[in-house]
Amino acid sequence: MAAQIHRGTLTNLRRLARVLRRGGLVAVPTETVYGLAANALDAQACRRIFRAKRRPANDPLIVHVADLRMLEQVAEPNDAVARLARAFWPGPLTLILARKAVVPAVVTAGLPSVAVRMPAHPLLRRLLRICGLPLAAPSANPFGYVSPTTAAHVQEGLGRTIAHILDGGPCRHGLESTIVDIRDPLRPVLLRPGVITAAQLGRVLGVPVRTVTKRHAARSAGQQSALAPGLLARHYSPRRPLITHRRITAAMVARTGTDEAWLCFRKPRWAGGAKNIFWLSAAGDLRQAGRRLFALVRRLDRGGWKRLHAELAPSAGPGTAINDRLRRAAAGRG
Ligand code: TXA
Ligand code: MG
Repeated sequence: MAAQIHRGTLTNLRRLARVLRRGGLVAVPTETVYGLAANALDAQACRRIFRAKRRPANDPLIVHVADLRMLEQVAEPNDAVARLARAFWPGPLTLILARKAVVPAVVTAGLPSVAVRMPAHPLLRRLLRICGLPLAAPSANPFGYVSPTTAAHVQEGLGRTIAHILDGGPCRHGLESTIVDIRDPLRPVLLRPGVITAAQLGRVLGVPVRTVTKRHAARSAGQQSALAPGLLARHYSPRRPLITHRRITAAMVARTGTDEAWLCFRKPRWAGGAKNIFWLSAAGDLRQAGRRLFALVRRLDRGGWKRLHAELAPSAGPGTAINDRLRRAAAGRG
């Protein structure tokens, strides 16, 4: 049986809020990717998220809040929170903070910290306000696969496992939120790149933001089994083998068969009418490229190609996040 896809009418939002209050799951739109939400204060409801996604219990969830009051229910705020919230919330930024005791251990995978984010999508904000609960939500895809950026993607991956999907249209950013650990506001650490860059965060915080190292991850997680997000090397993976390239050229394409697909960053001048050449953004716009990345990778993955090739983006702004996702999609492959 397929999940029911709901439009965001007030009646539907009220109904979905009831589902969440009773411990059920609802896939929700965010400005980054679709999430699979449950009441973050209900351990049993959150266990259902892990089961539905087949997500290992050592991978903690992000808690979505409507406002700073709700944040204070689940996490210990500090000065940096106020500053970052003013600059970037609601928006695609997740903060790692010390957790409060009401947060069930299943949400944080037993860590002393909790990931918190105030999402910008108007339908999710309305739903958060109506149900009045913080919502734990990982991306709404089976564990390890490409994140969903439309309700149809959620239906494809989880339609047989969950009952409700709230349709908020295609996601505006298409890349998961930037994650930064600011438990020590003087030494912020970037755990996952996103549309909001380390440089932007550094300007607001007044200190440089370091990128995660294995040592930091091990220290914050306590042990290998609970690595921070940036370190799960193979993730976001299509089923077809994917290979990344610094540049894709006409000569490279000519050397391989027409059963291999090439995903360029921008539209190449030599593309002609070839059926196996694709691009993230015709004009090479980084934001558009980020928005389209996962949908295109999914489409190519289902296209019957023998192998997928992807060209890395210029590593400025959201380009860093695009390349991070592409490298992970390619990890463990030739
Ligand atoms: O944009 C997003 O962040 C989307 C939407 C739905 O909000 N969510 C998302 O969730 O990407 P997920 O579960 O796919 O990725 C969240 C990452 C996980 O890899 C997890 O390891 C990390 O956040 N995380 C959660 N809590 C953490 C914590 N306390 N310390 C370190 N990392 C944490
Ligand atoms: Mg995910």
